[in-house]
Amino acid sequence: MTEMCRYAGGEGSGDDLEEILHPYEDRSMTVVRYVQQERVAVLTLCNPPVNALSVATRTGLLDGVNRALASDAAAILIVAEGSTFSAGADINEFGQPPVEPSLGDLFRHIEDCPLPVVVAIQGAALGGGFELALAAHYRIAARNARIGLPEVKLGLLPGAGGTQRLPRLSGANAALEVILSGEPIAAEAALQMGMLDDVVDGDLAEAGLIWADQIADGGLGPRPTRKVTTGMSDPVTFMADIAAWHAALEGETADTTGKIIECVEASLLLPFEAGLRRERSVFRELLASDRSRGLRHAFRAERSAGRSAKQVSGKPRYIQSCVVMGGGFLGGSISMALLNSGLKTTLIETDDASLSEAVGSILDVYDRSVSRGDLAASERDARMALLSGSSAYTSAAGADVIIHAGPVAADQAGRDLAGFAKAAGGQPILAVASDLDISVLVETIGRDALVGQMVFHPPLRANPLVEVLVPEGAAPELAASLFALARRMGLKPLLVAPRGSGEGLIAGRLRGAMRQVAEHLLILGAAPEAIDAAVRDWGFRLGPFEAEDRAGLEAGRADQSRSYPDRNPQIIGQPMTSALLDAGRTGRSAGAGWFSYDTEDGRARPDPVVRDILSATRPGTTAAPGDAQIQLWTQAAIANSGAWLVADKVVDHPIDVDMAALSGLGMARARGGPMLSADLAGLAQLQQALAAMNAEHPGAWTPSPLWSELIKNGRSFSDLNE
Ligand code: 3HC
Repeated sequence: MTEMCRYAGGEGSGDDLEEILHPYEDRSMTVVRYVQQERVAVLTLCNPPVNALSVATRTGLLDGVNRALASDAAAILIVAEGSTFSAGADINEFGQPPVEPSLGDLFRHIEDCPLPVVVAIQGAALGGGFELALAAHYRIAARNARIGLPEVKLGLLPGAGGTQRLPRLSGANAALEVILSGEPIAAEAALQMGMLDDVVDGDLAEAGLIWADQIADGGLGPRPTRKVTTGMSDPVTFMADIAAWHAALEGETADTTGKIIECVEASLLLPFEAGLRRERSVFRELLASDRSRGLRHAFRAERSAGRSAKQVSGKPRYIQSCVVMGGGFLGGSISMALLNSGLKTTLIETDDASLSEAVGSILDVYDRSVSRGDLAASERDARMALLSGSSAYTSAAGADVIIHAGPVAADQAGRDLAGFAKAAGGQPILAVASDLDISVLVETIGRDALVGQMVFHPPLRANPLVEVLVPEGAAPELAASLFALARRMGLKPLLVAPRGSGEGLIAGRLRGAMRQVAEHLLILGAAPEAIDAAVRDWGFRLGPFEAEDRAGLEAGRADQSRSYPDRNPQIIGQPMTSALLDAGRTGRSAGAGWFSYDTEDGRARPDPVVRDILSATRPGTTAAPGDAQIQLWTQAAIANSGAWLVADKVVDHPIDVDMAALSGLGMARARGGPMLSADLAGLAQLQQALAAMNAEHPGAWTPSPLWSELIKNGRSFSDLNE
C-alpha cells in the first residue's frame, strides 16, 4: 500500500476544467484510495482532518466497492488514515441540497455487496462513521479505538441505519445507552456488547488484511447486519428494556428522546426497510428543528475560535512556569486551571495572611473533589506540589508567564507587571486577567514588553471562554502564546480586536445588555424572580439577578457604569440597584441581594422586603411584562449588542459573538448563541422590539445599523459568517 493520498488542489489534483465539470468524481478519487493487496481490495479513507463522509468520500467509497466487484478481489477491507477513522456525516453539508449517493444508499450498497466487507477502526468511529462499520459485514478495531453515535448532541438521531442495525447486534438496552448518551465507548466495551467482532493489538491494517483474507479463504462470505438477530434473540427482554427507557423519559427533550426510542423499538417490530424509513423521517424532522440548528451552530461556533487562532501566525512560546498575582476568586480559579494542566504556578498575594487564605481555598476545592471521588488523592498532591506562594516580587524569577488577576486600575496593574517582569528576567509574557484599558498598560509597561489581556469568566468549568486581546502591532508570538496557554488550561480562547480606551470585550458587553434590559423590565413592573425564571426558561443557566447576586451588586453596578451605543445606563439609570445597596443588600455573600439566601440549601429565595423596596422605587404602575415580553426583549438586547460588536469590527463574524455567549454567559447550546437565535426568531421581530424599548427610554437602546441593512437585503447574521 504505497500509493500516496492526493488532496484536491494539491499535487495531481487534475485539470481545472475537468474538476469544474465533475467536481465530486475527481475529489472522490483523492479522498478514498483504492489498492488491491492480492485478493483483498483495500479502500482507505483519506479526507483529513476527521474523514467526514462528505459527498466526495461517499462517492469514493461507492466507486471503490464497484471497482472491487469488477475485479478479481475476494474481499473488501475499509480502513482510514489519520487519528480518526471517521467523524461521520459531513456537518457542513447539513442544510444544503442533498447530493447522491446518500449515506443510507451507500450503506445499503455495502451491506448488499456480494463480497465480504471488513471494516478496521482506528481512533474514533463516530456517527455515520460507526454506521458505516455497522453496515459492513465484519468489524474489528484497534484496542485504543472508540465508537459512538453522538448525533443526539447535535439534536439528531443516527440517520443512516444506526437505530436499526445496532440493536440487531447488541439488543435494545446497549444500543439506547450508546445512542441516547452520545458518548463514545471503548473498543473493548463495544466488543463485549456485540458491536465489534474483534479488538486487536499491533498493526491494524495488517490485522484487517488477515481478517479479510481468512474470511475469503474460509468462504464465510457476507454477513448483512439486517439479517443478524443476536440482539433480538430475547424479544421479551428487548421490549421490557424499551418500556423502561420510555418510563424514564423526562425534561424538555423527552419528546425527541421518545421518538428515538420508538425507532429502536421499530427495529424489532417492523421489517428492516420500514424501520429505516421511520428512522429517516424522524431524522429529517429533527434536522429541520431549531434545537438541532442551534446545536449544530454551537458545534461550529466552539470551533470558530480555532479560526481566529489561525490568524495568529506566531509560534507559541514553550511555557513551564507561571505567576498569578491575586489570590481572590479570579486568581484562585486561574491558578487551579494552570495547576490542573501541569504548570508550575506561583501565587502572589500582598501579605502572608491573604496568601495562606488563598492557598487554603485552593486546597479546600481539591479536598472536596477527592472526597466526592472526582479526583485521586495522589493527583491532588501532585497538583499542590506544583503550587508555591509568595508576597515578594522576587519570587517571579524565571517565570515564563505573569498574569495579573488583582482588583486594581490599569496603571497600577501596569506598574505591578513591570516590576514582576524585571524580577522574572528575560522577556516573560504578561497579561491582565480583567477588562482593563490595554493602551494604559502598554504605556505604563513600555512598548517592547509582551503584554496582552486574557479575560476569564469564572467559574471556569461552567464558562470556559477566555477573551484574548493584544495591542496593535504586538509580536505575533504574543497572541499565539496566550491562545496556546488558554487551550492548555482546557479553556476556549477567542481573539478580540483592540478598541481603544476601556471599551469592554464581548461577554462583558453582552452581559451588560442583559442586565440593563432586566432593570428596564423591573422598572416596568416585572418581579426579579419572574425575570430570572423567564430568562432561564428561554435558555440561560442563571437569570440576570441571581447572576448579579453572585458577583455582588457593587461589582455589578461598576460594570454597568459604561455606556455603549447598544445601551445607556445613564438614561435608564439603576434606581433599583441603588435602593437595594442602600438597604445593605450587597449580594449572595452577604446573604441578601435581589434574593435572600437564608435557607439551609442556600438557594435564591424571593424576598417580600425586595418587593417593597421595588414598589417604592418604581415611577408608576403599569401592567407587568409577561414571560414572552421578557424573553423577546432580552433576546433583542443581547443580539443588538452583538450586532454592534460585528458592525464595529470588534469581532470578525457574528458566530464569534455566539461562541462568547455560549462559553462565557451560560447560554444554552441548543439556542446556538444570540445571533443565530435572532436569525431564527426573525430579524424584523427583534428590530421592532428594539424600537419599542427605545421608545420607552429614547437613546437607551440604539439599534445597530446592521439590522436595517440585513433586513433590507433579505439577509441574516448567519450569512455574514460565510
Ligand atoms: N463534519 C465536518 N467537519 C467535522 C466533523 C464532521 N462530522 N467533525 C469534525 N469536523 C471538523 C471540525 O469542524 C474541525 O474543523 P476546523 O479545523 O475547520 O475547525 C476539524 O474537523 C477538527 O475537529 P475538532 O477540532 O473537533 O478535532 P478534535 O480532534 O478535537 O475532535 C472529533 C475530533 C472527536 C471527531 C470531533 O470533531 C467530533 O466530535 N466531531 C463530531 C462528531 C459527530 O457529531 N458526528 C456525527 C455527525 S452527524 C451524522 O453522522 C449523521 C448520520 O447519523 C446520518
